[in-house]
Amino acid sequence: MGDLRGRENFSSGLAVFFATLGSALGLGNIWKFPYLTGESGGGAFLLVYLLSVVFIGIPVMICEFYIGRKTRKNAVGAFNKLKANPAWKIIGYMGIISAYFIMFFYSCVAGWVYCYMFKALKGDFVSITPRSAEIQFSSAVVGPWVPLFWQFVVLTVVAIILICGIRKGIERVTKTLLPVLFVLIIICDIRAVTLPGAQAGLNFLFNIDFARLSPGVILTALGLAFFKLSLGMGTMITYASYFTDDNNLILTPVKVAASDTIVSMLAGIAIFPAVFSFGLEPGAGPGLLFMTIPLVFSQIPLGSVLLIAFFFLTSIAATTAMLSLVEVPVAFFSEEKKIPRTLSVVFNCLFIMVIGALATLSADGAGLLGKVLIFGKTFFDLFDFTSSNILLPLGGLLIALFVGHQVRKEDFRAELSNYGRLRMDGAIGFIRFVIRWVTPILLVVVFLNSIGLI
Ligand code: PHE
Repeated sequence: MGDLRGRENFSSGLAVFFATLGSALGLGNIWKFPYLTGESGGGAFLLVYLLSVVFIGIPVMICEFYIGRKTRKNAVGAFNKLKANPAWKIIGYMGIISAYFIMFFYSCVAGWVYCYMFKALKGDFVSITPRSAEIQFSSAVVGPWVPLFWQFVVLTVVAIILICGIRKGIERVTKTLLPVLFVLIIICDIRAVTLPGAQAGLNFLFNIDFARLSPGVILTALGLAFFKLSLGMGTMITYASYFTDDNNLILTPVKVAASDTIVSMLAGIAIFPAVFSFGLEPGAGPGLLFMTIPLVFSQIPLGSVLLIAFFFLTSIAATTAMLSLVEVPVAFFSEEKKIPRTLSVVFNCLFIMVIGALATLSADGAGLLGKVLIFGKTFFDLFDFTSSNILLPLGGLLIALFVGHQVRKEDFRAELSNYGRLRMDGAIGFIRFVIRWVTPILLVVVFLNSIGLI
C-alpha cells in the first residue's frame, strides 16, 4: 500500500504495532510509572492501574482507532469528516492543548535523559555512591543553562525526525530501536533482582495493601493509564489515520497495552530492588530513575557501557513518544490550516521550547522558578497534573461517549471488522457495550470520587 488518498501511511501491520507502541512506551514507563508507584504505595496502586488499563484504556484506544482510521484525518478534522455536531470538535482542541501541556514538561525530562547519556559517556558515574547520585541529579536539573540546552537538543531531534515524515521518520526509528530497549531492560532486571536485599523491593512492588488507596491515588493510577497508553488527546486518532486498512483495531490495542504494561513492570523490577538495596527512598519523586539506575549499573561488569546504552534507549523511547505528541498539533496545522508540514513542525517545536522553559526552570522545585507556585503547584507540576489527571481522562470520557452513543452501530461494526473481512461479531458487540456503559460510568465515578462528591 502506498500513499492513501494523498496521505502518507504506515507500510505494514508490524509498522503500525511498533509505531503505536513507540508512542505508548516512553518516560511514562521508565520514569513516571516507577516513581508514582513509589509515591503511591506499591502493589495496591499497581492493581488499580491494571484495572484502568483493561476497563478504560483498551476500550478508549479502540474508540480512537475507530475515529482515526475511519476518517483518516487529524484529531479535529476527524469530527468534521464524521459530520458530528461541531461541539464534539472540543475533543480535538482539548487534545492539542494536552499535547502542548505534556510536551512542556516531557521535553524537559527527556532533556535530563539525554544529559545523563552524555554524562555516562563522559564517565561521570564511575564509582558513584547513593549520595553522589543525588548530587549528580541536582546538577543536571538546576541549571539554568544545562537543562535548557538539553531540552533544546531534544526538540531539535524530534523536529528532524518529524520533518522526515511518517515512514522514513517515525516508522523507521521505532521499528529498529524498540526491540533493543526491551533486551536492555531485561539485563538491568537480572542485575537488580540479584542485588543483596532485592526482595524488599519486589515485595514493595507486588504486595497489595488496600489501606494505601485513596481517591487521589485512584485518580493518579487512572491518569497514568491514559498517559502511558497515549490516550484521551487524539494521539491515537492521529496515528490510526496512518494505519493500514487491514489492521485489526481490536487486537492491536490489546497487544500494545500488554507490551506497554510488561515494559513498565520490567522498569519497576529494575528500580525498586535497587532502591531498597541502596537505602534510597521509594517516594523520592521525579529523580528516582536518575538516582537508582546509575547505581544499579555501577554494580555490574561492563556497567558503564550498559549505562550508556540504557540512557540511549530511554532517550529513544522518550523521543518516539514525543513524535506522537507533536504529531497531533503538526497534523492539525498542516491539514486544517494548510501550513506546510515542515513549517508546522518548526513552529510547534519552537513554541514548546519557549513555554517548556517554564517547566524546566521550575522542575523538582529547584531551579530559578522553583518557588513560583500557581494553585500550589510549580509550572512543571501544573502542566503534568492538568494534563494527566484532568485533560486526558476527560478527553477519554468524551471519546467513549462519542463513539458509544453518536456513532451508528453498523458503522462501528463495519470499521472494526474491516468491512466484513474479520469475523469478530461477538467481540465487537461486547466491546461496544463496554464503551457505551462500563468505561464512561467508571470514569465519572473516579472523577466524582476524586473531587469528593461521592
Ligand atoms: N505514552 C507516552 C509515555 O508513556 C507519553 C504520551 C502521552 C505520548 C500522551 C503521547 C500522548 O511516555
